[in-house]
Amino acid sequence: MQTVLITGLSGFAGVHAALAFLGEEWKVHGTVRTQEKKDKVLNLLSLKEWVDKKRIEVFIVPELVGGDFTQALQGVSAVVHCASPWHLTGKTWKEYRDPAVDGTVRLIKQAAEVPTVKHFTFISSFAAEGDAVKPWSEQKGVKYTESDWLPYDEQFCVQVEKEKNPNGPGIWYAMSKKIAEQEAYATHKAIGAKFTISSILPAMIFGPSLNYSSNKGIPEQADMSTKTQYHALVSGHRQPIQETAFTGWSDVRNVATALYEVVARNKSGRFNVVDGSYDFQILANVARKAKPEYENYIPRGDPSSPTPTELCGTYEISNAKAEKELGIKKIPLEKTVVDAIEWFVTLGAVHK
Ligand SMILES: *[C@@H]1O[C@H](CO)[C@@H](O)[C@H](O)[C@H]1NC(C)=O
Ligand SMILES: *[C@@H]1O[C@H](CO)[C@@H](O)[C@H](O)[C@H]1NC(C)=O
Repeated sequence: MQTVLITGLSGFAGVHAALAFLGEEWKVHGTVRTQEKKDKVLNLLSLKEWVDKKRIEVFIVPELVGGDFTQALQGVSAVVHCASPWHLTGKTWKEYRDPAVDGTVRLIKQAAEVPTVKHFTFISSFAAEGDAVKPWSEQKGVKYTESDWLPYDEQFCVQVEKEKNPNGPGIWYAMSKKIAEQEAYATHKAIGAKFTISSILPAMIFGPSLNYSSNKGIPEQADMSTKTQYHALVSGHRQPIQETAFTGWSDVRNVATALYEVVARNKSGRFNVVDGSYDFQILANVARKAKPEYENYIPRGDPSSPTPTELCGTYEISNAKAEKELGIKKIPLEKTVVDAIEWFVTLGAVHK
């Protein structure tokens, strides 16, 4: 049985990535930052079966930048790097850059010391590819593929910080993903690492938040995907519809499948994994139609008018490479939304 190292095992995508490998007869080494996170992961409802079967071992690595992954890397055939900050509350460029860029580069170097490692894959983001600084409503007809890169440089991040630009965190997040990706490929080449390297580029990730076991922490302290979906899907029918900052979405299970498939099929390079376009009115409309029994919980907005993306159009993100080379099939938005709502119900975060 082969072993995969998954960093950020307690994260929204980390748990799904683990399930994708566990279901294919792999063992999982996972890293988390604290003992508290370790206890939480080992008690997750979604992982219980595998913890009981002793197929998961959890290691504590307190920080990404200075972290020592030696123990967690012992005997692993593949590394799936999921740990990277995704929030918009940072104050400086460095706060985004260091964990994303230095964390990834450091892990690649450590993995290169371990002869059993055959593959290194990591979660990047559509943010590293498309121009998220330019409003989507002005990008009708633009089609992004894996050969595109976010058209800014580090200089711009520094300037944004000096100007105290309120869009700083969004720009820094996107740039940290771009530079992390470019540095990852450059490092892999420079040190002559023997493994194959690939990156998965999702857009806004939706789907069940399997890394929660109780409703504690939802929505206030939850991560972006969980918080966003909580507000969009079950926060109450009078809640205003959120403004849509990015219009591409990905089902977390397709992200996880892609992470598994690049490893299983030994594929290198970038792969967009994107299931479609959305805005929050569309999410609400789809949810109300699919789950009428929860109409008191699902924000209503204005279901009778065209939605923002229907009005202006938006960019398109090509999923063709992942479909062709990884066998990824798009998941309908309705399924993603229904499964997310049902998981919130399971967590006791929605009372019918
Ligand atoms: C779930 O994952 C997110 C990040 O993806 C993290 O912020 C959050 O703390 C996790 N929840 C638990 C219970 O560990
Ligand atoms: C994986 O692909 C690379 C080329 O990208 C090749 O050098 C390597 O031998 C392949 N590994 C396996 C296990 O097939």
